[in-house]
Amino acid sequence: MRIASLLLMMVLSILTSEVCQGGEPPVGGKPISSNLFGLFFEDINYAADGGLYAELVQNRSFEYAPAMQKGWHPFTCWDFLRAGYSIGYLNVGTSEPIHPNNPTYAVLDIELVGAYPEIRGLSGVGIINSGFDGMPVNQGDQYFFSFFARLLSEEPVDFLIQLQDTKGKALTGGTLKVASGEWQKYELTLTPEVSCDSAALLVLAQSKGKVALDMVSLFPEKTFMGRRNGMRADLAQVLAELQPRFMRFPGGCLVHGDGISNIYDWKNTVGPVEHRKAQRNIWNYQQGYGLGYFEFFQFCEDIGAAAVPVLPAGVSCQNSGGTHVIGGAGQQAICMEDMDAYIQDVLDLIEWAKGPADSKWGSVRAAAGRVQPFNLEYIGIGNEEKITPEFEVRFKMIQNAIREKYPEVKLIGTSGPFSDGDDFERGWEISRKLGIDIVDEHYYKGPDWMLANLHRYDSYDREGPKVYLGEYASWGNKILNAVAEAAYMIGLERNGDVVSMASYAPLLARKGNTQWTTDLIFFDNRSIVLTPNYYVQKMFMNNQGDYYYDGLVTFTTEDPLLSASTVYDSTTGDVIIKIANPGMNPSKARADLSGFKGLGSDAQCFILRGAPDAENTFDAPTNVHTVTVPVRLNNATVLEYEVPAMSVTTIRIKKE
Ligand code: AHR
Repeated sequence: MRIASLLLMMVLSILTSEVCQGGEPPVGGKPISSNLFGLFFEDINYAADGGLYAELVQNRSFEYAPAMQKGWHPFTCWDFLRAGYSIGYLNVGTSEPIHPNNPTYAVLDIELVGAYPEIRGLSGVGIINSGFDGMPVNQGDQYFFSFFARLLSEEPVDFLIQLQDTKGKALTGGTLKVASGEWQKYELTLTPEVSCDSAALLVLAQSKGKVALDMVSLFPEKTFMGRRNGMRADLAQVLAELQPRFMRFPGGCLVHGDGISNIYDWKNTVGPVEHRKAQRNIWNYQQGYGLGYFEFFQFCEDIGAAAVPVLPAGVSCQNSGGTHVIGGAGQQAICMEDMDAYIQDVLDLIEWAKGPADSKWGSVRAAAGRVQPFNLEYIGIGNEEKITPEFEVRFKMIQNAIREKYPEVKLIGTSGPFSDGDDFERGWEISRKLGIDIVDEHYYKGPDWMLANLHRYDSYDREGPKVYLGEYASWGNKILNAVAEAAYMIGLERNGDVVSMASYAPLLARKGNTQWTTDLIFFDNRSIVLTPNYYVQKMFMNNQGDYYYDGLVTFTTEDPLLSASTVYDSTTGDVIIKIANPGMNPSKARADLSGFKGLGSDAQCFILRGAPDAENTFDAPTNVHTVTVPVRLNNATVLEYEVPAMSVTTIRIKKE
């Protein structure tokens, strides 16, 4: 008996030391969410194709169509080339595609390969793609080229594949022979001899014949963590460096879509990429779904973030039809007779993510190379819908089904598109009534609003559902915006017992393809501009705690906007202080940390400061950034700190 209890004590102590390496939190702390700050990824502003997804070919599957964007067609982003007085034709093919989900392909018909290779120094008939404003390639790096081809003539067709610079000079190349009458994947590795910011990919048939082509792809070998079909390394890296606790995806309004036929269907986004069903997204371009649910879950895991998928609540966006129907068609709802099938889709997603590899949908995940289940703790149902009776009844049906089959999954509901008003009230009322775990609030406001509402969550009911502030931002990417957001986030942390998650929005914006102007990270093919808002998010995400201590920081000046929080991270035992000063006057802060034992005297201090309108641009991308300064604690207990005007500071005092 004594041995048994000794063993039990040993196991318990191992468990507790894993959970709480920093030791028990000192008295007086309030437990707060340890998942407070994370990411929200939506395919807006070309965040996926042409953004985080590393594919370099644009319109690789020839599915661009006028219904996606005015003027688009299957050969958008492709040029047809008859080099060296060759004769041939380019047509659209649709019969016997690789997969019914991928119905359109290119047909090259080569009648004569000319003997005058003056044009581009080559002869043949082919197509050329210049990616998303050119393809950035690096000398000596490897690029994986592939296409699917099906021979439509008797004689095999030889292909030259080249990367070319803007003058048509070859950077690298290779050859392929298409000899099968069945769709087959052909691959080549290309290694440019010189770097080029704006390369193009040439696919040139060099012998007579007829061939169908689809899924023409070029991927850098150097994706984030070397994943095939993976993420653009530099963009993924700046997301990983945030150390987000979770990532909500794939939207946003993109989820509930522009009408029922446009709502995001996760099943179209998994399986072999050539079987995925591209469609227009609500932001009026194509989502090719190379970055689909598998890649989202894998990426979340790669960056240590909990995956938070959001599924439509059986209704479309209330602004549906806005771009195509005068006055908009409004929210549309899935017919009641189709709801069972829709609910099954939702349950299937959960099975796909966390079901065993021999379950129906778990086997689809396993076939994609992931036998072990993914972790799935949360699921969002709905995205800022207008809270109509149609929404309510469908939401309830979905909720019941999830609760019954997967009671352990935390459900995130919605409170409509605004910070207050009818939908907000109604969304909360329904969520309370149904006992939803977490309610997703969204609002985009000016910095003044943020500063006037620093105490918004102080009075929230602690007994009801928790809050997920799933989308927020102050309108702007200047220091003033970032500091206002930091002050607001200190309010979120102070209320971390009721606010369980928060994510800035939108996350990514491609230069020249931006539908939403205030974003966290701007990028083009080569550069990344981290906004002041990014630095604030990083300071907060890198420094999360799980206990909050009130009133430990005091200021020498009276200013209700001066904000501070103190949290304790029980995994490390570190204490973290955050201070935001949205005013134009400096102040002095004093923190009495005598309640925390074993702290070191040296602290890590990060500061973001500057003129209110300072910002980062493509021309001056590092104008604003955090700096570190040394800070010491007196007797390892008292911290005194000069708070600069218009600044955000995080100070991490490590346990020794
Ligand atoms: O973040 C941009 C958009 O803002 C989201 O798609 C939507 O949820 C909100 O209106």
